[in-house]
Amino acid sequence: MSKTILAIESSCDETACAIVRDDVLLSNIVSTQIEVHTKYGGVMPEIASRLHAENITIVIKEALEKANLTLDDIDAFAVTRGPGLIGALHVGIQAIKTLSLLYNKPLIPVHHLAGHIYANEYVGELKFPLLAVVVSGGNTELVLMKDELEFEIIGRTKDDAIGECFDKVARVLGLPYPGGIPIDKNAKLGKHTYKLPVPLHDGSYNFSYSGLKTSVINLVHKLEQNGEEVNINDMCKSFQDTAVGMVIDRSIKAAKDFNVKQIVLAGGVSANSYLREEMQKEAKRIGVDIIIPPMWCCTDNAAMIAKVASRLYDRKVFAPLDISVDPNWEIEDYLKF
Ligand code: KG4
Repeated sequence: MSKTILAIESSCDETACAIVRDDVLLSNIVSTQIEVHTKYGGVMPEIASRLHAENITIVIKEALEKANLTLDDIDAFAVTRGPGLIGALHVGIQAIKTLSLLYNKPLIPVHHLAGHIYANEYVGELKFPLLAVVVSGGNTELVLMKDELEFEIIGRTKDDAIGECFDKVARVLGLPYPGGIPIDKNAKLGKHTYKLPVPLHDGSYNFSYSGLKTSVINLVHKLEQNGEEVNINDMCKSFQDTAVGMVIDRSIKAAKDFNVKQIVLAGGVSANSYLREEMQKEAKRIGVDIIIPPMWCCTDNAAMIAKVASRLYDRKVFAPLDISVDPNWEIEDYLKF
């Protein structure tokens, strides 16, 4: 039987709506707030919520128009329930609850990072067991999937997320927000000349980024105090090699240890050109298949939420109307709401 799902994403600074019919993407509308937040050097939660409230009905209307459908054609309404900014998530869930109630159709709560992982299905078939390398502004996790919708976190950051680290380092170097983009660009012109400490590998699949962040900040301040010029391109290259190196190292170890068939990248930092190239090379070296998500999947969108919702619909994973958001929702608990 045909199924048409409308999904909303509003967990951070993109207000998005997408419609899928039987896994075919009919529309995918994203309204980004990035220009507004850039002025403040980071996402301002209050402003994010206000802009989501302003834009949510517009993106829903545009998604329906693009798909040439009306709300009567929708079989289920899906939404990102977490993780993310609490106020931002609330805007999405309120909108979807209203639609679900009015049209008497199921409400499907979706985990944001599951969405980023399943976004890879727009490129190729997922093959299990699979290792998802989830690298974003708020998360750095290695997720083992033995099968469809089975998520096990085998490693994670003990402190800062990798994207957060890129953003803080960019700020100290006077580069604009979001910092990953200018660091990636500048690193292409630089050499790895600055020696930065990497936390000792304890044999686990965990990460740590706060020490690396502090080392860069201290080194930049020291050079400035000594009246020495910081070579921005070289600092970007040295930092990027170190930060990304840690991801490659842990991911390849995990891929081998768990004998996975495929590696997929997910989250905002998967846009990083060095990470994409190196992970591809390393996966090839150990003979593991890899999917590199297209750039549009690296930023937040609702198409990825619709993809997971479609699976959940088949399993009848529906939420009651009194469901609330969970800003710290763990991917392993995606059925607990
Ligand atoms: O957290 P996230 O998935 O959120 C959104 O998509 O809104 O992605 C944002 C994070 C930021 O920390 C940003 O600096 C980082 O992704 N990022 C990158 C690159 N592009 C974005 N990091 C490294 N290299 C990039 N090319």
